Amino acid sequence: MTDTNPSFWVVIPAAGVGSRMRADRPKQYLPLNGRCLIEHTLDCFLGQPGLLGLVVCLSADDAWWPQLACAADPRITRADGGRERADSVLNGLQALIAQGANEQDWVLVHDAARPNLAQSDLQTLLATLQDDPVGGLLAVPVRDTLKLAGPDGRVSATPDRSLFWQAYTPQMFRLGALRDALGNALAAGATITDEASAMEWAGQAPRLVEGRADNIKVTRPEDLEFLRRR
Ligand code: C5P
Repeated sequence: MTDTNPSFWVVIPAAGVGSRMRADRPKQYLPLNGRCLIEHTLDCFLGQPGLLGLVVCLSADDAWWPQLACAADPRITRADGGRERADSVLNGLQALIAQGANEQDWVLVHDAARPNLAQSDLQTLLATLQDDPVGGLLAVPVRDTLKLAGPDGRVSATPDRSLFWQAYTPQMFRLGALRDALGNALAAGATITDEASAMEWAGQAPRLVEGRADNIKVTRPEDLEFLRRR
C-alpha cells in the first residue's frame, strides 16, 4: 500500500451455513491448502498497514471459530450474525461504532467465503475510491452471453451484456452512510443482497471498480476444487 491509500475497517460476514456446498460444516471452515477458507480470507487484510481493525460476524452457535488461532488476534473482534447477510453486516458496522470507529471512516465489507482476493485488487479499490463521494465495489464485466429464462425453462430474451457486471467484494463505503442505508433498507423490507444495493436504495450510485475474475465466492463444491488445483 502506498502512503496515500486511506485507513479502513473491515467487516467479514461469516454467519451463513453455505448449504449449496453440501458439507458437514459452514463453508468458511472448509479446508483449502492446509488452512480453512476464512483464515485465507482474513490474511488478505491482516498484512495491510492501513487496517484499523476487523470484525467477523458469526452465528451464536459457531463452534469452529474459537478453535482458530486468529480468534485470539487482538485486531479481530466478533459480532453476532443475523438472519440474512445484510443483518450480519449491519451488526458488524454497529460493533465498529461501539468500538469508537468514526462515521466518516472507510469500511470494506468482504465475504468470508472469498479467499482469493488479490493484493493488487485491494490496492486498486482503495486507491480508486479514496476520494470518491460515495464509494463502490470490485466487480467484473460479464463475459458470457446472458439469457433471460422464461417460466417454461426456455430462453425468452438475450439482453445486451455490455451493460452487466458481476458484483464482487470488497465493497467500500463510509461507515455511517452504509450503516444508515442498510438499517433503513432493512426496516423498509427491501431485498438487500450486497452493500451497494443498500446504497442504491438510499439514492446513491456506487462506483464499479474492475477486479480479477478469480476473486470467486466459494458457493458450490467445484469452486473449492478450482481453488485447490491452483
Ligand atoms: O450465502 P452467501 O454465499 O451469499 O453468503 C455470503 C457471505 O455472507 C458469506 O461469507 C456468509 O457466511 C455470510 N452470511 C452472513 N449471515 C447470513 C448469511 C450469510 O454473515 N445470515
